[in-house]
Amino acid sequence: MADVMDKIVSLCKRRGFIFQGSDIYGGLANTWDYGPYGVELKNNVKRAWWKANVYERDDILGMDASILMHPKVWEASGHVKNFFDLKRDCKSCKKRFKDADLKDKNKCPECAGELTESRPFNLMFETHAGAVSDEASLIYLRPETAQGMFVNFLNILDSRHPKLPFGLAQIGKAFRNEITPGNLTFRTREFEQMEIEYFVRPEDADKKLQEWIELHFEWYLNYGIKKENLRKRPHGPEELAHYARACTDIEYNFPFGWSELEGIANRTDFDLKQHAESSGQDLRYFDDKAKERFYPYIIEPSGGVDRTVLAFLVDAYHEEQVKDDTRVVLALDKGLAPVKAAVLPLLKNRPEIVELARAISKDLKQHMVAVYDDTAAIGKLYRRQDEVGTPFCVTIDVQSLEDNKATVRDRDSMQQERISVDALKEYLLEKLTI
Ligand code: GAP
Repeated sequence: MADVMDKIVSLCKRRGFIFQGSDIYGGLANTWDYGPYGVELKNNVKRAWWKANVYERDDILGMDASILMHPKVWEASGHVKNFFDLKRDCKSCKKRFKDADLKDKNKCPECAGELTESRPFNLMFETHAGAVSDEASLIYLRPETAQGMFVNFLNILDSRHPKLPFGLAQIGKAFRNEITPGNLTFRTREFEQMEIEYFVRPEDADKKLQEWIELHFEWYLNYGIKKENLRKRPHGPEELAHYARACTDIEYNFPFGWSELEGIANRTDFDLKQHAESSGQDLRYFDDKAKERFYPYIIEPSGGVDRTVLAFLVDAYHEEQVKDDTRVVLALDKGLAPVKAAVLPLLKNRPEIVELARAISKDLKQHMVAVYDDTAAIGKLYRRQDEVGTPFCVTIDVQSLEDNKATVRDRDSMQQERISVDALKEYLLEKLTI
């Protein structure tokens, strides 16, 4: 199974999904850059998530808060005190290890050197705001997007007057100084989160937690993740984050084992109370019917963009034998596929064919992500598009000049259909449902 990961890493690099960060300098470990196809896939994942969680609902509002926040935010949230891993250093090779990852707590797993006692290391990245680099200018890169929504709770109440239950949604970068990152984009120090903070009456929290777990589980299935590769795993009390009363992870069966895609937690009223106390602001919600003021509980579905993209890539990847050839296909959901249609002229030395193909591609580009490619023979062009998950290839041949029809090839079935050039756009849009 592990070699599936090698194949994904290789495809990502070869075709331009994901590159090693700072590659020409030998790479900066565990940083990854999304290439032309990767950025499209990532944007499509974010758009699909936003559509389901913001646009299709009446009770969720979008937000985009700053990465840099007042340092008091992280004291109040408990991250300064509680957001750490226990780690040990090797006295010989100086490498650092997470306590939890070590089988022998005294011996370095790489050079067999002696290890230090375990010490807590906070996961937050520190930096300094302004010209002077002293304690007063110390700030953090946010380790979760969530706090941006809690500190804006009052602004949202005052500007939009939402009624419980309601939520805030945000997609954005988060940073953690992980010491054991790995598995491509699975665990990195810089990553993107897709988070919802859903405010509910305390007595509704358990029910709403279950609803969000089911809803988000379904979302992955709707976008093509195979059911057998997805599961829910409730946290035991010992693994709950400092702010959570309950949490269930949605896990994906990655080639390196079942691992967390998203956590859905009951954060209770912990964050609002902490920020109310720390800021001196009244962050209670006023129920004007019951005439009561109280702190709502918060249900938090929190997923990672990069992990979700990786799960979609892994789940979509397959190889099949076609005659003497192995066909590599990314059977991505059509809505997530980076490119929707590739227009391919069968003979590039016939100017009329090239002209018609270019005109079709130009027209399609107004309605979907479409590409034109004439840089290889047709068999190779098909394979190239299969590998990046393009649902449709549109081929223009000599006959097209006579009957004004194009051949549309379906990625998954490889079935071909002749479609009138005039009806092509509607035909594809209907199949793509975008
Ligand atoms: N606000 C809650 C929170 O941040 P978390 O379980 O620590 O909870 C939520 O993170 C999600 O963010 C995870 O399920 C994962 O998808 C993603 N994530 C967390 N750390 C990550 C890392 N180092 N690299 C990539 N994604 C990460």
